[in-house]
Amino acid sequence: MARETPVMKVGGQHTRTIWVEADGARVGIIDQTLLPHRYATATLTTVADAARAIATMQVRGAPLIGAAAAYGVCLALRADPSDDALEQACRQLLATRPTAINLKWALDEMVAAVRNRPRHERVAAAYRRAAELCEQDVAINQAIGRHGLQLIATIAERKGGEPVNVLTHCNAGWLATVDLGTATASIYTAHDSGVPVHVWVDETRPRNQGAALTAWELGHHGVPHTVIPDNTGGHLMQHGQVDLAIVGTDRVTAQGDVCNKIGTYLKALAAADNGVPFYVALPSPTIDFTVTDGLAEIPIEQRAADEVATMTGATADGRIETVRIVPDGSAVANYGFDVTPARLVTGLITERGVIAASRPALAQAFPERAGRASRPAAAE
Ligand code: MRU
Repeated sequence: MARETPVMKVGGQHTRTIWVEADGARVGIIDQTLLPHRYATATLTTVADAARAIATMQVRGAPLIGAAAAYGVCLALRADPSDDALEQACRQLLATRPTAINLKWALDEMVAAVRNRPRHERVAAAYRRAAELCEQDVAINQAIGRHGLQLIATIAERKGGEPVNVLTHCNAGWLATVDLGTATASIYTAHDSGVPVHVWVDETRPRNQGAALTAWELGHHGVPHTVIPDNTGGHLMQHGQVDLAIVGTDRVTAQGDVCNKIGTYLKALAAADNGVPFYVALPSPTIDFTVTDGLAEIPIEQRAADEVATMTGATADGRIETVRIVPDGSAVANYGFDVTPARLVTGLITERGVIAASRPALAQAFPERAGRASRPAAAE
């Protein structure tokens, strides 16, 4: 089996989700709030721009939130390289979204890279470190793709060349990372290696990251896929239409509990009931060794009611419109994430291989992270 390293393209051009502009200072992003109807980029000039981009989900997905925060620190230090400015920037960025631990991880990395340097060296050091974090994200995702490929290829062999049906939730694709994605890394690597794969894409209400983003990127890469309403997965599993589920995650605890986009837990329950393997793809910065019980300890983001009460889409003549779908006066709840207990997770696809969702397996695979967990965090 020839193994390719997939390259994500927009309009035939290899494209990443975040980059430093030609002036070497400002930061470019894809404005994900406009997809799939419009592809447009935006430029971040200040730390406030970076914080707004994360909070409004122009950039989103745990690893990309971390990368955007890293560049937010760079932008802050350009304006003022003092300790006070560094602390203020970290506070401002950390407050944008509470659940994905990659945000805090990236801020800690940035603080460690600049804190002990003289002020005149800090800006260059920050840009260097932010670029390294981005390169590391890509390398990690490539490794996740190689390990996940083995899982998919094994099922493909068993199916005698029939497409392997993968169910995924939300967008843990290249748009959620710097490049390649986490859950999609295995899918793209399998597809580019000639392993036939078809993806069931949960629409992922309320913001529809599956329907809007995952479908967009799979389509651009030529991966066969079908968008399904969020409630369909259980039915498909009961009828043997799902060979495995692969989702991403915003935080994995020391004992292997998995926090991911709301609705992930229900898919894991359905998978367990139907004997469907349920895998979680994650880069090691998503592991939070300081927490154990995901249900009790992970803060779950609650977002604006409007995300549930309205829908935005394209009209037949191409206008983008938002319509209300809930009666005026009805209460609305918008929990962004849920926790899937480790017992429902078949395996974690990490850059160091596929491991059990358990404390010993995580600590053995990432001893340097597990050991550091008790140290005080730099960005706090
Ligand atoms: O609210 P979002 O769109 O930032 O949520 C994204 C997810 O839940 C992803 O599955 C997760 O961040 C993993 S991304 C590789």
